[in-house]
Amino acid sequence: MPRILDGKKVAQKLKDQLKVEIENIKLKFNRTPGLAVIQVGNVAASSVYVKAKTKAAKEVGINVIDHHLEESTNQNDLINLINELNNNDDVNGILVQLPLPNHINEEMVLNSIAPDKDADGFHPLNVGKLSISQKNDESLMIPCTPYGCLLLLRELNVDLVGKNAVVIGRSNIVGKPMAQLLLKESCTVTTVHSKTKNIESICKNADILIAAIGKPEFVNKDWVKEGAIIIDVGINRIKINEEKSKLVGDVLFSEVENKVSAISPVPGGVGPMTIACLLRNTTAAFKLKNYN
Ligand code: GUN
Repeated sequence: MPRILDGKKVAQKLKDQLKVEIENIKLKFNRTPGLAVIQVGNVAASSVYVKAKTKAAKEVGINVIDHHLEESTNQNDLINLINELNNNDDVNGILVQLPLPNHINEEMVLNSIAPDKDADGFHPLNVGKLSISQKNDESLMIPCTPYGCLLLLRELNVDLVGKNAVVIGRSNIVGKPMAQLLLKESCTVTTVHSKTKNIESICKNADILIAAIGKPEFVNKDWVKEGAIIIDVGINRIKINEEKSKLVGDVLFSEVENKVSAISPVPGGVGPMTIACLLRNTTAAFKLKNYN
């Protein structure tokens, strides 16, 4: 039987630690770490994520400042709001939920977030730091989903050094930072994507396979090596019938579960970890500002 990587449980452990840390911060500084959450428009999935992030932040004692803006918000107004938050001492972390409406340039918006308040780790300075920093650099703002994947992997207590790790997907949010993190762990890292030739055979060579392609149940047992560790980043809603739908990952769980040594489920795997890592980054941002 494979080990099921219970993201809910691991995320709860991290949130419990953060809660204690934040209680201590409040006693020491008489201040509360603050997270500004910006959503533009009403993409349904974004609303679900923002709600979950807000709830979790409040649970650990972070002060949440919500800005839900209209779909028609113009780019300058959004950047002006970010500048205000950059200058607000009560705000330690800023998160702009993606995707943004098409009329807004995502890159310009992410560049406008102060790097030391960049709770998502998407600012170019933080992207660069991730690439050149040492392994356990506590000051990094690490993108939350790949960071969550790494913490799940660490739960297994397996030696990652020299392992073949294959990341499926090359997004700025998951695939690219995931590859950086695994490289830092001294894995031999391959990133595959929609244009890769022989993708199946490359994946079949993976000791660690991270699936972040956004295609429901795309990875089947023929892609997977016996005894591999699988982290499934996908969150895809599929229809079962006219009334019902369900969430599935990028991996065909029922087919691969008997072949692998460990696998993260969907839901309840990477999702909760992403949220817990956002709270970690916000707390780290507070500490970086106040403990020096
Ligand atoms: N959209 C999908 N994933 C993410 C994430 O990790 N952060 C933000 N800000 N938006 C997202």
